[in-house]
Amino acid sequence: MDKTALVKEFIGYFGGNADGIRLFTSPGRVNLIGEHTDYNGGFVFPAALTLATTVLARPRSDRKVRLVATDLKVIVEADLDDLQKSRDIKWGAYQLGVADELQKAGFPLVGCDLLYEDKVPLASGLSSSAAIEVATAFALVSLGAGNKPVSIDPIQMAKISQTAEHNFIGVMCGIMDQFASAMGKKDHAIFLDCLTLEYEWVPLVLEGVSIVIANTNHKRSLGEGKYNERRAECEAGLEILKQALPKATCLRDVSAADFEKHGHLIADPVVRNRVAHVVYEDDRVLRSVEALKKGDLVLFGQLMDQSHDSLRDLYEVTGLKLDALVDAFRSCEGVIGSRMTGAGFGGCTVALVRNEAVDAVKEKVGAAYRAAIGHDCAFYVSDIGDGAREVTE
Ligand code: GLA
Repeated sequence: MDKTALVKEFIGYFGGNADGIRLFTSPGRVNLIGEHTDYNGGFVFPAALTLATTVLARPRSDRKVRLVATDLKVIVEADLDDLQKSRDIKWGAYQLGVADELQKAGFPLVGCDLLYEDKVPLASGLSSSAAIEVATAFALVSLGAGNKPVSIDPIQMAKISQTAEHNFIGVMCGIMDQFASAMGKKDHAIFLDCLTLEYEWVPLVLEGVSIVIANTNHKRSLGEGKYNERRAECEAGLEILKQALPKATCLRDVSAADFEKHGHLIADPVVRNRVAHVVYEDDRVLRSVEALKKGDLVLFGQLMDQSHDSLRDLYEVTGLKLDALVDAFRSCEGVIGSRMTGAGFGGCTVALVRNEAVDAVKEKVGAAYRAAIGHDCAFYVSDIGDGAREVTE
């Protein structure tokens, strides 16, 4: 992020001078393991990236919000007193949805001008939308407080951002992405219990191993309905299991032993498979966290592999391109584990790769993917960074 250049660009769009322009940033995330478990009250293990959204923000004296992005060039305008009117806009809905939910929660907002720089690749499974939402929440709450000191509760900002995604965008996402974006910590992964929101920062001690993210370059949109469909299937499965397990409030309450005993009650094999994935994935997260704490990266890698296979065969959210990438990684020397990350349906994979093998792996996987799919993938060897904050230096 080049602060001076961004301030100059801001002034180019909105006039004035550098006075009163504030900077906020919030990162994307990579999920190491625990996929499609968050909205089932389960466990996840994401880490915030150093790839982030940065927003420059300056208050206005009226109730208008004006938004632009470095790669967009068109200013979108909305009215804080009539945000519903902006529901269907093509770009800006995440931001305005957050403004709407903040106001509903009682935060006093002021009109403002906002310039976004998005460094998280869009629709790639790395939570570009959560980065935008959480950065916006921090900016709007800070500006709304005027010159008064404000202490922002990052977990509350994560929850408000998630609600915005439900109500404004219509994607019934879990809390993982917004939580990771708000609560990330440099060089740590977040072990999060999505039912209680209890969390633990686990040091990512990866002796001699790198996290390599690969992008299929196939953009996915959760608005297409497949995501909400999976969530509904899990709810349907839970309803049936409640006949035998009346105390279960979410699939997290169903243990592997419970499922082995009562899974047959779910007649529809598709729904049964969805439930099986969630139940065993929760277990894999718990074992992965233990493995990492003990420095057993080989076991961690095996659990990552099992997670992908389950997402491919039982949850059916991988598809040709993600599978091609994972297969290519697995055929390389020095790869300890490899899986899709995020919602699936396109987007990215994450792999643990021995440092000395990273260059060769990228070359081999790049070539194999091009041969199988017909276009290039992209690689990011991103560091694990901090969560949302105002940038004051
Ligand atoms: C998306 C959602 C998350 C989570 C993942 C799948 O990233 O936003 O809440 O459900 O998919 O694990």
